[in-house]
Amino acid sequence: MSSNIIKHHHKIDRIKRSKHKKHPAKVLWFTGLSGSGKSTLANRVEEELFKLGWHTYLLDGDNIRLGLNSDLAFSLEDRSENIRRVGEISKLFIDAGVLVLCAFVSPLKKDREFVKSILKVDDFVELFVDCPLEVCEQRDVKGLYAKARAGEIKDFTGISSPFEAPENPNLKLQTHLENEDDLVVKIVNYISQNDV
Ligand code: ADX
Repeated sequence: MSSNIIKHHHKIDRIKRSKHKKHPAKVLWFTGLSGSGKSTLANRVEEELFKLGWHTYLLDGDNIRLGLNSDLAFSLEDRSENIRRVGEISKLFIDAGVLVLCAFVSPLKKDREFVKSILKVDDFVELFVDCPLEVCEQRDVKGLYAKARAGEIKDFTGISSPFEAPENPNLKLQTHLENEDDLVVKIVNYISQNDV
């Protein structure tokens, strides 16, 4: 909706900031059902990267929805807007030289593709936290699945709202089959080896 806007080019750019930081800046995008383990894994990975001296920031669905995105609910339109804003924020973090970890259900392929499309090719690392609905529902850490089944929450992912699984994620993380420590190592190794 903005018109007559001309982009400024700043003297200190992404490359200069990245050289200061001495590590890659990109987004690790955790997608999966509520209760699949996205936040847990993102937290653990951030901890490991922080120990290595990397500059990181974790954006998490629940937290962002308490602040910046508190005007959004869970219709597919609102979820798209949620992911669009987070994508734009991630782009700013990358420009600032920070490795950003995003933990969002992000159920629609087109929304994840949008984030990918506004970033440089290798800057979007898609991590599919692939845990079956039955297991997430059994865990029900927040008690939301019970409420969704009882009809107290509408548009609940996996119950009354769709989840489109990524077809070609960079990594598939099966939290119901693999040990959490091993998954953390797998992610950290992947980023270190694909240090572009
Ligand atoms: S997203 O679909 O727009 O990406 P987001 O990751 O921000 O979702 O928020 C998901 C979190 O909100 C879940 O972890 C869960 O705790 C909570 N939540 C509340 N209502 C819903 C709902 N209808 N569907 C999914 N998650 C919900």
